Amino acid sequence: MTNIYPANNDNIQKAAEIIKSGGVAAFPTETVYGLGANAFDGLAAAKIFDIKQRPKFDPLIVHIHSFKQLNEVAADVPPLAKKLADEFWAGALTIVLPKTDKIPDIITSGLNTVAVRMPSNPIARKLIEYADVPIAAPSANRFGCVSPTSAEDVYEQLGQSVPIILDEGRCNIGIESTIISFCGGEPVVLRLGGIAVEDIEKVVGLVKVDITNDNLAMAPGRLLRHYAPQTKLEVYERNHLPPAAGKVGLLCLKADENLNGFATVEELSKSEDLVEAAVNLYAAMRKLDAQNLDIIYAVEMPDLRLGRAINDRLRRASAK
Ligand code: TXA
Ligand code: MG
Repeated sequence: MTNIYPANNDNIQKAAEIIKSGGVAAFPTETVYGLGANAFDGLAAAKIFDIKQRPKFDPLIVHIHSFKQLNEVAADVPPLAKKLADEFWAGALTIVLPKTDKIPDIITSGLNTVAVRMPSNPIARKLIEYADVPIAAPSANRFGCVSPTSAEDVYEQLGQSVPIILDEGRCNIGIESTIISFCGGEPVVLRLGGIAVEDIEKVVGLVKVDITNDNLAMAPGRLLRHYAPQTKLEVYERNHLPPAAGKVGLLCLKADENLNGFATVEELSKSEDLVEAAVNLYAAMRKLDAQNLDIIYAVEMPDLRLGRAINDRLRRASAK
């Protein structure tokens, strides 16, 4: 018996009961699969850190299903943050706000701010609704590894350490949410993700993007090496791809590169669509990782819209 269950109403109820009673459950969102626990229960949240082998200085995102719940987790919502939420929620945008006392310190790693997201995936929304509490959930993978975009991916990483994995097939965005903070006066993007910065700027004007990892206190999760396969990965500009030496796998947007000598090629989007590329990114990384390659060469995406977020993941996957 596996712990993968189809995401029907009965099983969503079952997962909600587990979360209500202090346990954890893995569930689909539109970005990646999450590993959820009651966001008001510090002990339940501790189980997430344990299962993921996640360092305690890496705070969790709290998932809500209504604006009413937002007021239970965030002490203040500045007008610009509200404007962004109105535009992009439910969806792949996480907003960092001052936290209320109801959110235990372990969720935020001791920060006085909380990252909040209202997911659009109907299964995730029902789960939060049935559990009747906000759900703290990181991506459902072991710390530092590639994020899961299917129930099987979750199982591969976490096995039987979670009682239930709700299965709803592949995620339709495929990379994590964009994170924007409103805690330092001006809005700052802390993680590139499923909502393009260009679209955020249409709503609130120019925003600062600070995805460096030199300010751990501000966003502890932005470690340089992250989202990484086991196989060594190097990133190259399109025109500077070296010839394959050894057993090399190629990860590229469209396979019009010189393919001579590559053991295997993973193309992210034949039509060079960056949204489709994001959907396929982590699955392609997993596939390459399973092939005993000496190395993976990844070709940089065009540096715009979701291409920026993909390039960020590739760079982190290539970090030592
Ligand atoms: O798309 C997503 O956001 C997925 C799905 C499951 O919702 N979740 C996800 O969570 O990617 P996770 O744990 O893999 O990434 C959470 C990151 C942390 O590593 C940290 O960088 C940032 O969110 N974060 C959380 N709380 C924060 C806070 N109070 N201030 C700044 N950054 C925070
Ligand atoms: Mg993660």
